[in-house]
Amino acid sequence: MNSTGQSLRRICGLIVLCPLFSGCRPALPPPTPLNQLNAQQRSGYRVFQGYCAQCHDDRDSDSLHGPPLLGVFKQPYFPSGAPANDERMRVTLQEGHGLMPPINITSQQTQDLLAYLHTL
Ligand code: HEC
Repeated sequence: MNSTGQSLRRICGLIVLCPLFSGCRPALPPPTPLNQLNAQQRSGYRVFQGYCAQCHDDRDSDSLHGPPLLGVFKQPYFPSGAPANDERMRVTLQEGHGLMPPINITSQQTQDLLAYLHTL
């Protein structure tokens, strides 16, 4: 194969492999600024501070005890590969997940928390 063909192949290979590396993923839209949250989302933010923040970052992509929840609903899957939706989040909270213990909050707190997590 001539060298143009080889470099074309290399470029195609890079494009195909690119999504495998998180660094190449298109940036997710940023979280809603805290001062723009509505009342329910603000209440969910307080639930997050009380029940999640010691193990999860919400506005940063660092891992604490658990994976960061920044953009958690803007991606199709949770880190485990489970679909990122409200139902799955409820199950994760009720039953825990791996090293994460079950989180004992009311259904109102869960609703508010979900509203907040959707702003991340
Ligand atoms: C005591 C620490 C701790 C607390 C508190 C905690 N988590 Fe976690 N969480 C973890 C760990 C550790 C994991 C990774 C579990 C694993 O994959 O084994 C995790 C994983 C997750 C996942 C990913 C599940 C998946 O399927 O990949 C979600 C979503 C999550 N936590 C949400 C929350 C939310 C929301 C709260 C607050 C209500 C919370 N967690 C509170 C430690 C915690």
